[in-house]
Amino acid sequence: MTLANLTLPLMRLLPAETAHTLTLAALKTGLGLPSREPGQWDTQTHLPRAGLTLANPVGLAAGFDKNAEVAAQMARFGFGWIECGTVTPNPQPGNPKPRLFRLVDDQAVINRLGFNNAGLDVFLTNLRRQRALMGVPVGANVGANKGSTDFVADYETGLAAALPLADYLTLNISSPNTPGLRGLQTDSQLDTLLARCRSAWTAAGGGKPVFLKVAPDLSSEDIEQIIRTVEPHAGWLAGLIVSNTTIDRPQTLRSPLASEAGGLSGAPLMAKSTQVLRLFADALRDQFDLIGCGGIRNGADAYAKIRAGARAVQLYSALAYQGPNLVAAINIDLAARLQADGFRSVEEAVGADLH
Ligand SMILES: Cc1cc2nc3c(=O)[nH]c(=O)nc-3n(C[C@H](O)[C@H](O)[C@H](O)COP(=O)(O)O)c2cc1C
Repeated sequence: MTLANLTLPLMRLLPAETAHTLTLAALKTGLGLPSREPGQWDTQTHLPRAGLTLANPVGLAAGFDKNAEVAAQMARFGFGWIECGTVTPNPQPGNPKPRLFRLVDDQAVINRLGFNNAGLDVFLTNLRRQRALMGVPVGANVGANKGSTDFVADYETGLAAALPLADYLTLNISSPNTPGLRGLQTDSQLDTLLARCRSAWTAAGGGKPVFLKVAPDLSSEDIEQIIRTVEPHAGWLAGLIVSNTTIDRPQTLRSPLASEAGGLSGAPLMAKSTQVLRLFADALRDQFDLIGCGGIRNGADAYAKIRAGARAVQLYSALAYQGPNLVAAINIDLAARLQADGFRSVEEAVGADLH
């Protein structure tokens, strides 16, 4: 039992964003952190397109550490990799509060934060310091400022600036909380984004893997369109992260906060995001590294994403309910499941449920 897990019941009494701010402050003190002993329960895995080897496939999804302040501390809980951001070129306050809600009955979260962050300069200063302290790959997730007149230019700026300091980069074009952003997923806009980002990536020296993070709210036609648009970029684009939060509100939701506007994450997202992952994996798994994200709460969920085609996974919302000891629990359970099914590695199980 770590200090972080002991304080969890107290945190639940506070408004969600206050609890998160306090959690970051507590992490920054470094007190009560477990000492990570590599290899204890790690199942190493490799992302061939990205050229990354992960101590284990379980990653921290973007949004927890928007300003790259606590990545090294979070790595101590056993994450195999950590994604910081979303960072935008200029600092911005995000949407008015309250903008973060716990749907306790549904083990879910709704957020409409709107890319609140301290901007690229602060992010890069923090990332440089954090990366030196951590033994696992760290990614920089980049986005666009709300008032920007050229969204794509913001991605070019973020990509080029973060490239030397991060182990990988993510183009987040799927947040529902910046008006117009998800339009970048449509074919002509996506084509322009990828072409310009490829130039910016090349001009900045290339070499670092880039992921594209997509929404779960895509029809099969949307998915086919995205597949057609990304395929020619297989040379430099390493993979897709599937997925961000959903704007859907499933009928099954029971919490009174379910009608709050924003992106829904956590348990109710698991089936939907895994289905979208499966559709991408059917077409793309040999060309791109696919990352499964959305609704993971336990080893069974992580394993289901891997069997649906994910080479690694990410999570965020479940931390709010189960605390950071969840990371070790998922890894231990995942290793047992792999062994029970006769897989000698994560890689052997990737896409096992696909035909
Ligand atoms: C409070 C909150 C803030 C988030 N902020 C970001 C963000 O800045 N950038 C991003 O790409 N995704 C962001 N996400 C989405 C997560 O990275 C993840 O894709 C999504 O929550 C699904 O995973 P989960 O169900 O495990 O939380 C955020 C999610 C939450 C709950």
